[in-house]
Amino acid sequence: MILYFSRTGNTKLAAENLAILMKEKIHNIEQGTPPEISGQETLILAAPLYFWILPGFVMSYLSQNPDLSRKELHVVMTCGGALGAGASLIKRQLNQIGFERIFVYPLIMTTNYIPLHRVQSPDIAAKAIQSALARLPEIAENIRQKRSAAVSPLLEPGLPVAQVIYDSARRTKHFYATSRCIGCGLCERDCPLGAIQLKKGSPEWIKPQCTLCLRCLHRCPTGAVEYGRSTIGKERYRPEKFLSKNLQVGLSQKKD
Ligand SMILES: Cc1cc2nc3c(=O)[nH]c(=O)nc-3n(C[C@H](O)[C@H](O)[C@H](O)COP(=O)(O)O)c2cc1C
Ligand code: SF4
Ligand code: SF4
Repeated sequence: MILYFSRTGNTKLAAENLAILMKEKIHNIEQGTPPEISGQETLILAAPLYFWILPGFVMSYLSQNPDLSRKELHVVMTCGGALGAGASLIKRQLNQIGFERIFVYPLIMTTNYIPLHRVQSPDIAAKAIQSALARLPEIAENIRQKRSAAVSPLLEPGLPVAQVIYDSARRTKHFYATSRCIGCGLCERDCPLGAIQLKKGSPEWIKPQCTLCLRCLHRCPTGAVEYGRSTIGKERYRPEKFLSKNLQVGLSQKKD
């Protein structure tokens, strides 16, 4: 069973292709409690890396579904290329909530974190995603063999440090909507935490913190959502604009 969390599409694409390759069932954790998973099934989590750790939404989900807390979990960690100490910090995070044997497989795709970076050009991003998908057969084999990818040794901050950085970034006071907002309500409907509410036709962030998936920012049809000053004038991440629809089919045909 593959459980996945994906807010701008990268992890979903990876998880769907992996499910085809491994003939595994797949479940989007935003849809709630997972279907029953037998004791023998391999449990795979596909999730993006946020500041070298797992998103708050994913951690809450795993903590609230204690049935998942088995001895073994395989984590396919998508990221934008700055994986740093991610693999080992994720292991520590999961240890803390009861997982004992954790295997992590980093998968570099392309970044959606535009407060710090810019999105890659469509050509470069498409190539990066295609290279990532081409690595999935190797990752599938590593999962079957229970072989975590080798992670380069690196000066590693403690988990509490990574958590403090993430917690500071995910304060919703950074978000606002500009006059480009047309009051369509998409951001309110799409937030997995109900952190946004339309008031007088314009969004307000009503919870002090969110999971910082950036979906409200990337999917706003008029580009009205900003995060401080750091996203002003920057391209949003819309992979459907440059990815061919048959990426998934292409991979499954290759395998069959
Ligand atoms: C809050 C946040 C923090 C991120 N931190 C990192 C990071 O530390 N290293 C990295 O390589 N990518 C980082 N990224 C980029 C994402 O991990 C990457 O683009 C991922 O594939 C997005 O997954 P999704 O499209 O399935 O939501 C971050 C993205 C967000 C939104
Ligand atoms: S998605 Fe954009 S345009 Fe629609 S309500 Fe939210 S900020 Fe306004
Ligand atoms: S407020 Fe925006 S960034 Fe935060 S969780 Fe909701 S959709 Fe994601």
